[in-house]
Amino acid sequence: MTNFANKTVLLTGASGGIGLEMARVLGREGARLVLIARSVDRLEAVANEIRSMPGAGAVETISADLTRAGACDEIYRKAAGLGNIDVLINNAGVGEYGVFAEQDAGAVEQLLQLNINALTRLTRLVLPSMIARRSGRVVNIASMAGFQPFPYMTVYAASKAYVIDFSFGLYEELRGSGVGVTCICPGTTRTGFFDRGGFDHRRGEFLGMGANAADVAHECVRAIAAGKRLFVPGFNNRMASVFQRLLPARFLARMLGKFMKPGARSMKGAQGPT
Ligand SMILES: NC(=O)c1ccc[n+]([C@@H]2O[C@H](COP(=O)([O-])OP(=O)(O)OC[C@H]3O[C@@H](n4cnc5c(N)ncnc54)[C@H](OP(=O)(O)O)[C@@H]3O)[C@@H](O)[C@H]2O)c1
Repeated sequence: MTNFANKTVLLTGASGGIGLEMARVLGREGARLVLIARSVDRLEAVANEIRSMPGAGAVETISADLTRAGACDEIYRKAAGLGNIDVLINNAGVGEYGVFAEQDAGAVEQLLQLNINALTRLTRLVLPSMIARRSGRVVNIASMAGFQPFPYMTVYAASKAYVIDFSFGLYEELRGSGVGVTCICPGTTRTGFFDRGGFDHRRGEFLGMGANAADVAHECVRAIAAGKRLFVPGFNNRMASVFQRLLPARFLARMLGKFMKPGARSMKGAQGPT
């Protein structure tokens, strides 16, 4: 796939951050968009903005909480009723910062539900039709945090490790099927992500060194069009990710734990957390 004109893209987490910016890029490229998030107003505002772009395709919105039982099936039924889904982008995700043993158990469940279960369910739903048509792509937004254990973002990082391994496993299962899988691992990006999930004073430091969401989204869309298996947006992040994957996970986890520990003085100089 080299361009998105007249391709139908189902995109979760489209009301803000990286998802919103990807929706803008895809809209400019003439994709037919089905945008998912909870907030009706923000979703409609994004849809109206894209509809007003010259050359934009149709834009539909489905307001839904992906952590609700049955939500993914309902979304799939509605989206599939509009036509074949060419690309699924599992972008919606949340993070939780803090000491695991003290974290709100419900918030942890919600994180797992969104970052792992909804992503897996939507993928399971779209694949049979893609395989039958020998065409399509599943795109999973993981994180650089998923390359090693990440103390004090332990569950988030583990959920993203799942996303990375799930994507790579599927990629091999689908080899020769005409259906592709792209896993994207952004580093720290300036979005509303840090306004949720109990991030403390460190948030400012993360944001100070984070990438611009529009730049990240632009790179992501190019990587999807190029059919990449794994993509890390940003040159510096790509270099850092090489070390993340080469250095012993135990060493990295220990180092990150020192920087991330609640109350630790500073994490300046550390690679971004997400
Ligand atoms: N920002 C970073 O530094 C960073 C780095 C690496 C990876 N990532 C990953 O990139 C992806 C996007 O993150 P972001 O930074 O753009 O986050 P964001 O600005 O917080 O946006 C998250 C999006 O997900 C939607 N969402 C959240 N919970 C949902 C739910 N239960 N059901 C449906 N939609 C839900 C939100 O919309 P509503 O609130 O309207 O539902 C919003 O559109 C995530 O998977 C994240 O883990 C982010």
